[in-house]
Amino acid sequence: MATIDRSRLAALTASESERYAAARPRSRALFERAARSLVGGVPMQWMSEWPGPFPPFMAEAEGARLTDIDGHRYIDFCLGDTGAMFGHSPPAVARVAAAQTAKGLTAMLPSENAVIVAELLAQRFALPFWQMALSATDANRFVLRLAREITGRPKILVFNGCYHGTVDETIVSLENGKPRSRRGNVGPAFDPTADTRVIEFNDLAALEAALADRKVACVLTEPALTNLTGVVLPDDGYHAALRAIARKTGTLLIIDETHTISTGPGGYSRAHGLEPDILVLGKPIAGGIPAAVFGMTDTIGGQVRERLYGPGAAVAGIGGTLTANALALAAMRATLTEVATEAAYDHMIRLGTRLAEGIRAVVRRHDLPWYVTQLGARVEYRFQPSPPRTGTEARAGADSAVDRFFHLWCLNRGVMVTPMHNMLLACPATSEADIDRHNEVFGEAVAALLGR
Ligand SMILES: Cc1ncc(COP(=O)(O)O)c(C=O)c1O
Repeated sequence: MATIDRSRLAALTASESERYAAARPRSRALFERAARSLVGGVPMQWMSEWPGPFPPFMAEAEGARLTDIDGHRYIDFCLGDTGAMFGHSPPAVARVAAAQTAKGLTAMLPSENAVIVAELLAQRFALPFWQMALSATDANRFVLRLAREITGRPKILVFNGCYHGTVDETIVSLENGKPRSRRGNVGPAFDPTADTRVIEFNDLAALEAALADRKVACVLTEPALTNLTGVVLPDDGYHAALRAIARKTGTLLIIDETHTISTGPGGYSRAHGLEPDILVLGKPIAGGIPAAVFGMTDTIGGQVRERLYGPGAAVAGIGGTLTANALALAAMRATLTEVATEAAYDHMIRLGTRLAEGIRAVVRRHDLPWYVTQLGARVEYRFQPSPPRTGTEARAGADSAVDRFFHLWCLNRGVMVTPMHNMLLACPATSEADIDRHNEVFGEAVAALLGR
């Protein structure tokens, strides 16, 4: 098996970093200027996580292409970390957004589009009732509140290594088997271990034990954990057992499809026959315009109606003035009818497969102990021999130094990979040539790393 020479890795990373910086004088100048008005030189902390000494500042983007202010044109496989999974500014979304902009953006009133979107979502996800939110974070906050309200139970359960947005209750992890407020949890509102149970994914005995006392309102999970350094896939039969145990103990099952919507038009849930009580979806649902949705069964819909819409209902903690605004609804309608179509998914998944196979071929050719996972249009590679089964195993495969080298190497050759993990997405505008270019650049990076 090939191994990585760390001094070679450090030298290559340093030269790639210099090359990156030298070729981007305008981004560098803007970053230096930004430091005087934006904390850390960026408007949001994650934008400082790109691998170079400063991020490439975006000029414009369209389809699978992004251009930075120094004129570098990238094949974008990051796609806003899923927010632009259907390509940058899909033409149908751009068209209706422009039209809606001239007709009223936000009014705190329902529109016909709201009804049409809910009907389209009901067909697609086989859940009859829907509500909207501004982001997936927002939607997850709301559904956790609703789950506690409906069940009258105080606790929730999440899996080690989960990420569901900046949702206080979910910023927990297991360290040496013990629940902990997650490292880096900024100014926690409360100790999240008090009312959140956290166990490893794929551990059915732990799940049985955690739900047995019937104090847990809901299990909140992605169908496969995508927010680790590597994807944690469910064992065969895991979801069926999770569904059965949740049902037996009166615990609601909330499936967060925000990333796994890459799997197919109805997400992982429809592709694998999952039966969530509540389903959450954000990021690309309005083609890049901020919006999120959550769907629920008939029973849950009835219980929410009783609590939130009954006479004298006082609602605090759910919703917001800009939520379900007219612009977001118009964009969601266009996304559901013209962008996130079966045909678009067929293309994206076929290219996802080409991407995964190309990366696997490089890994095999160089005899590397690395694995590649694919969730439809989403592909990820990690530096471990086989996919992890738990959050703890996934963390053990993290190697941020190797990530950084790959990301810099790719950026310098016009290929954009998602920072913080090695995640790549194919969108409807991605071409076979784009995929082949990535695989070529990836192959060159591996050869350089191994000195071949
Ligand atoms: C599964 C999942 N849920 C929720 C979120 C939160 O999304 P947002 O940051 O758009 O609110 C994320 C973000 O990465 C996510 O991966």
